[in-house]
Amino acid sequence: MAKLFIRNVFLLPLIVILSISFFIYKFHNNSALISQLVSKAVFHREFGEFPPLKKGNRWIVVTSVSQPTEDVKRLAAIEDWNLVVVADTKTPLDWKLENVHFLSVAYQKQLPFTLVSELPYKSYTRKNIGYLYAISKGAEWIYDTDDDNKPYGLGLKQFDYEDQVSGVRFLPQNASGISQRLFNPYRFYGMDGMWPRGFPLEHFEKHTNGNNSQVLCYKMKRAAVQQGLVHHDPDVDAIYRLLNADKNNGLNVEFNKFAPPITLSVGTYSPWNSQNTLFHKSAFHTMFLPTTVSFRTTDIWRSFISQKILHLSGLTVSFVSTNAVQFRNAHDYLKDFKNEKQVYEDSGKMIEFLHNWNCTRNNSTVLENCINQLLVDLAKEKLWGSEDARLMGMYLEDLKSMGFKFPKLVGNSTQDYSASRDETTRDVNCRRMHLEFDLLKPREDQSIRRAEQKLNYFGNIVDWCNETGYSDISINFPSPKQLAKQNNESYVFQKDLNSVLLAVNNYPWDYGMGLIQRLYQPYFATIIFCGSWYPENFQNLDKTTSIMHPINYIHMNPAEMSKGAFAYHCVTLVKELRLNNVQGYFLMSDDAVFNIWQRIDYARVHHIHGSNNLYNSWYNHTQYGAKAAKRVLEIVKTTNDTEIKTTWQKFDDGLRKYDYHNLTEGAEAQMLNHLGKSVSDFYYIPTSEIEYYANLMRIFYQANLFLEIAMNRFIRSVDHQISLQGACSYLWVEEDRQHWPDFYNQDLVALHPVKPSLFKTAGEDRKTYCATVIQTWADIVFGGSTNYTVKGDDVKEVYLPE
Ligand SMILES: *[C@@H]1O[C@H](CO)[C@@H](O)[C@H](O)[C@H]1NC(C)=O
Ligand SMILES: *[C@@H]1O[C@H](CO)[C@@H](O)[C@H](O)[C@H]1NC(C)=O
Ligand SMILES: *[C@@H]1O[C@H](CO)[C@@H](O)[C@H](O)[C@H]1NC(C)=O
Ligand SMILES: *[C@@H]1O[C@H](CO)[C@@H](O)[C@H](O)[C@H]1NC(C)=O
Ligand SMILES: *[C@@H]1O[C@H](CO)[C@@H](O)[C@H](O)[C@H]1NC(C)=O
Ligand SMILES: *[C@@H]1O[C@H](CO)[C@@H](O)[C@H](O)[C@H]1NC(C)=O
Ligand SMILES: *[C@@H]1O[C@H](CO)[C@@H](O)[C@H](O)[C@H]1NC(C)=O
Ligand SMILES: *[C@@H]1O[C@H](CO)[C@@H](O)[C@H](O)[C@H]1NC(C)=O
Ligand SMILES: *[C@@H]1O[C@H](CO)[C@@H](O)[C@H](O)[C@H]1NC(C)=O
Ligand SMILES: *[C@@H]1O[C@H](CO)[C@@H](O)[C@H](O)[C@H]1NC(C)=O
Ligand SMILES: *[C@@H]1O[C@H](CO)[C@@H](O)[C@H](O)[C@H]1NC(C)=O
Ligand SMILES: *[C@@H]1O[C@H](CO)[C@@H](O)[C@H](O)[C@H]1NC(C)=O
Repeated sequence: MAKLFIRNVFLLPLIVILSISFFIYKFHNNSALISQLVSKAVFHREFGEFPPLKKGNRWIVVTSVSQPTEDVKRLAAIEDWNLVVVADTKTPLDWKLENVHFLSVAYQKQLPFTLVSELPYKSYTRKNIGYLYAISKGAEWIYDTDDDNKPYGLGLKQFDYEDQVSGVRFLPQNASGISQRLFNPYRFYGMDGMWPRGFPLEHFEKHTNGNNSQVLCYKMKRAAVQQGLVHHDPDVDAIYRLLNADKNNGLNVEFNKFAPPITLSVGTYSPWNSQNTLFHKSAFHTMFLPTTVSFRTTDIWRSFISQKILHLSGLTVSFVSTNAVQFRNAHDYLKDFKNEKQVYEDSGKMIEFLHNWNCTRNNSTVLENCINQLLVDLAKEKLWGSEDARLMGMYLEDLKSMGFKFPKLVGNSTQDYSASRDETTRDVNCRRMHLEFDLLKPREDQSIRRAEQKLNYFGNIVDWCNETGYSDISINFPSPKQLAKQNNESYVFQKDLNSVLLAVNNYPWDYGMGLIQRLYQPYFATIIFCGSWYPENFQNLDKTTSIMHPINYIHMNPAEMSKGAFAYHCVTLVKELRLNNVQGYFLMSDDAVFNIWQRIDYARVHHIHGSNNLYNSWYNHTQYGAKAAKRVLEIVKTTNDTEIKTTWQKFDDGLRKYDYHNLTEGAEAQMLNHLGKSVSDFYYIPTSEIEYYANLMRIFYQANLFLEIAMNRFIRSVDHQISLQGACSYLWVEEDRQHWPDFYNQDLVALHPVKPSLFKTAGEDRKTYCATVIQTWADIVFGGSTNYTVKGDDVKEVYLPE
């Protein structure tokens, strides 16, 4: 029965299995070990002063064989993090630094861990003692790093500490082969042809992270291990370094700065190291660094074994964007190469073995028994020496002596993070998505790459226009370098580059995505298509409107979108992706035209016409109006969720503070008021407001509140800017819609609607579009016309015609 139970887990390898509530790890304050340590306090004078514990149970562990480096000094100074430095025989005996738990060799021998006397000297693996020490002091988090690595940017704050997070998961739909289970973080973070040390090279050529292999979850368990990326000299093997590193400057790699964290689902693997890695206590039993393999193998082997053990409990590993920097001394790459021999030879075998390994111990419902079996089986397979099976066993015994409780093995009754297949529910936790950034080589100039794309894509559009007989787009296009330089100097284009463009369709996407990609993609951090996305239903009619791969999207099913009633949910979802370093988010519907050269105030919410106080017929007559507004109030009244309460308070305060239309009344009165309508096919939310937006709009979404009401109330509660030409941006009546070219001009920020479906054939409609929008684009973006001084600016909010 037990065997069967475990097998079931492996029969469903893609199903992510979690059991959160059972994990209770308690370190008994009065455990034998702690008291022994305390009784050894008398030794402390002999071994130097030990600093007082900082609050928060957070520990950094490094080894060092030299005097305190600048990086170690920096680590020692981080607020709320305790630092342990593990010495080896080469470490200077007079090593001294304030605020450090320095474990000299002599002191290590006093520690009551059975492992200490068995670990080799002159070995990086003495770090294991540092882990045990930190755990004995009650660590909840251990940051594993080295004395030549420095936190950078957000540093340790880049990691997640909340139990529950939203975000992206790597979850291949087709994982029939080991190659599909492998994740290459460097590719995900935008580097071309680069792999982390430990990536099985026999699977590298042609390896991608797959097409149908990501989901976006609203709520998921935070990963037990988080690996941060490293700037400048990230961890690669000697082969990569031999081929690519500059003798003097190293690699100088800069990963894509926008890419979000990504969690690797159960059953998927990537190597990770001991240089910039955070362990939650639920992964402490997987921290052992093996001693029978080389220095350049030990942390990689640990990473694979750790992933397997974590998977047995439904726990996972994630990657987070760059939060440390390393400048590597030029050294002998051939020596590294020899040291990495086992990594090259056995990584693939290791992963394959671990993935197929089943726990068959008689008593296999207990994780500890399974781990003990695995340790022995690894030795049988000659993937490590039997000494390591013994030492890791001792490490686990030491953990247990401190009261460590192993997580539970989990079966099938656990949480499932696969993408929702129910296309009729509005309550979706995980959904299909895809996010991939342009791949660059180290040192490649992205501004020139983008300029080339702008020219090539626009060239497609010129051809597409020419099919209609419109051949006036005859400016002399600049060279990529000239264009890159011009665009570098444009304030607006630089701002756009740090913004995300969300293209939203109220109905399933069926035509024209390629046109949007070709017009806008090279100008933004990324374009994400949001809405119902069924690739099989998409028409690739010609090469200009056909899709370019990769295509970034977030799938919202037709019930969630409800013909656009909840299109605002797209911005909430894109926030939940947790992109980094984005300045703001533009939302544009598929049938809007966006004049990207218009300068708006990037620090504030931008809405085309603002929060006018018109009668909104939706309010009285649909399930998305008054009824939904009352449901919002009901949710807020009955909730115990502090986030909802805080958001609602902010909403109430904002409505009173900004006092649009002299409505001094707060949230409740404004929800019950039928006045207020904001048509919202185009708007901009700066990152400073995105969290508030997502929290408030999720409440509105849950209550079924219609777009024009939800957006109206949101923008009334924030400082916002309106387009100078706002009133002319929406064509309300059918007759105007038919004559949209009469309304289009370069001074608008956006115009709606201009239906792309009109341009399917090379007829008059497409020709007119080319003569207006495309011609203007050519003049301004490529022709260097600076005749567009009108900016989005504050104007009095106008009343729109009904
Ligand atoms: C592990 O169990 C799975 C499912 O029962 C089976 O397909 C696989 O062959 C087993 N692996 C080994 C090494 O026995
Ligand atoms: C899954 O991948 C394997 C190997 O790459 C391939 O042969 C198979 O056709 C794929 N299955 C599906 C359903 O795409
Ligand atoms: C993804 O799918 C598209 C279309 O089928 C294909 O052109 C592309 O090569 C695929 N990409 C990967 C990484 O498999
Ligand atoms: C499992 O262990 C129990 C008691 O330890 C023993 O009675 C039983 O025969 C064992 N079963 C197998 C299949 O080894
Ligand atoms: C299985 O192991 C647990 C803990 O190690 C023990 O409490 C239990 O009695 C064992 N069950 C069997 C059938 O051996
Ligand atoms: C989960 O396991 C139980 C018994 O352990 C079984 O009855 C049930 O069918 C399983 N469910 C799934 C979805 O496999
Ligand atoms: C535009 O189309 C005409 C035929 O309609 C063709 O002669 C001409 O070469 C085309 N121009 C370009 C730039 O493709
Ligand atoms: C544009 O600016 C970036 C960053 O400031 C720089 O790296 C790049 O070389 C510039 N491009 C050109 C063509 O000057
Ligand atoms: C809409 O409802 C409000 C109150 O619920 C009412 O005051 C108003 O007259 C109604 N408007 C119309 C046009 O029915
Ligand atoms: C909020 O908490 C109260 C008491 O603690 C409880 O009665 C109520 O059901 C909770 N409400 C919700 C929505 O969970
Ligand atoms: C708000 O009140 C001020 C001063 O009383 C007035 O000048 C302004 O027109 C009012 N605005 C609106 C939109 O009613
Ligand atoms: C500049 O644009 C304005 C309107 O946007 C237009 O009236 C004017 O003729 C343009 N000037 C040039 C030199 O193109």
